[in-house]
Amino acid sequence: ETNEKESMFLVSEFAKKYFEMILHTTDEGKSVGGSYFKQRGFTADTIKKFGLGYSSDAWDAFTKEALGKGYQLQYLDKTGLTIVKEDKTFDRFKGRVMFPIQSLSGRVLGFGGRILTNDKKAAKYLNSPESEIYHKSKVLYGIYHAKQAIAKQDNCFLVEGYTDVIQMHQSGIENVVASSGTALTPDQIRLIHRLTKNITVLFDGDAAGLRASIRGIDLILEAGMNVRVCTFPDGEDPDSFAKKTPHDELVKYLSENATDFIRFKASLLMDEAKGDPIKKADLIRDIVVSISKVPDNIQREVYIQECSRIMDISEEVLFNTLAQIGKKEL
Ligand code: CTP
Ligand code: MN
Ligand code: MN
Ligand code: MN
Ligand code: MN
Repeated sequence: ETNEKESMFLVSEFAKKYFEMILHTTDEGKSVGGSYFKQRGFTADTIKKFGLGYSSDAWDAFTKEALGKGYQLQYLDKTGLTIVKEDKTFDRFKGRVMFPIQSLSGRVLGFGGRILTNDKKAAKYLNSPESEIYHKSKVLYGIYHAKQAIAKQDNCFLVEGYTDVIQMHQSGIENVVASSGTALTPDQIRLIHRLTKNITVLFDGDAAGLRASIRGIDLILEAGMNVRVCTFPDGEDPDSFAKKTPHDELVKYLSENATDFIRFKASLLMDEAKGDPIKKADLIRDIVVSISKVPDNIQREVYIQECSRIMDISEEVLFNTLAQIGKKEL
């Protein structure tokens, strides 16, 4: 119901302002949240721009304030800002730094909240639960701040995390959004496709993530988008890399290391097979499945030629495999 959604938007907007106020004006906010962001290298302007905040470590400081201001408990509950257990209420994000998640038009849909320690036992990020206004699979973190730059640059950088988006902005690269740790969904792809046909996926520099993320990219090819990928040195993510790299060098790194996805995948798979013929046969099928997703005939043909070279296998075999895959999917 519209009224209900509107009430949820209003309480979320209030929460964003409240968490900002706590960060900027309270002792706890300044010393705990403020020093955390400082240590991450975020400037005051950056913190303002992204509406970053802090949620006090008290059990129900936010909930009390919101109720006192006349916001109804049912909407605090529905947005997940408050956890209601029997007759008790708790702040979901207590003791965390806050990243508001905004829609394309800037409305507050939900939050990510990060713990301040690197305690491996606690969840590093807590996110708003699914609700009538927050659908994780439809949202891209940073889209509101990136949309103009994406259209202007005619390219979208896709990163994993909140802080990757923020640090890239601070380094002067604004056409960047985050999938928040999961593979892109068709809805998220459509959102980007409205602004550009070109996407450059920036992977965290860890092999485990790479293997999993690569699978999701076929969906982007299927949408007819041009996909490039770029990796970072081991242990680095776009945030840590951008933080220590001057703007010009960062731009240069991205342009020199962004590789066409099919070319990247073919080379990666070849390295993995290490000459083992059985593995190689599997991997060839794998890459041809990706090529089969490309809607454009000419582009598919170019990819077949390229893979034939990289994988040292005849174009004929690749074309036959492509034809077989096409039949299976019909
Ligand atoms: N994520 C999450 N819950 C977790 C871990 C990760 O929702 N427990 C999401 C967050 O959106 C996070 C993204 O996945 O930003 C990428 O995860 P990761 O690379 O582990 O985190 P970073 O963004 O690098 O976070 P930080 O630099 O703050 O450690
Ligand atoms: Mn199009
Ligand atoms: Mn990661
Ligand atoms: Mn990361
Ligand atoms: Mn990180």
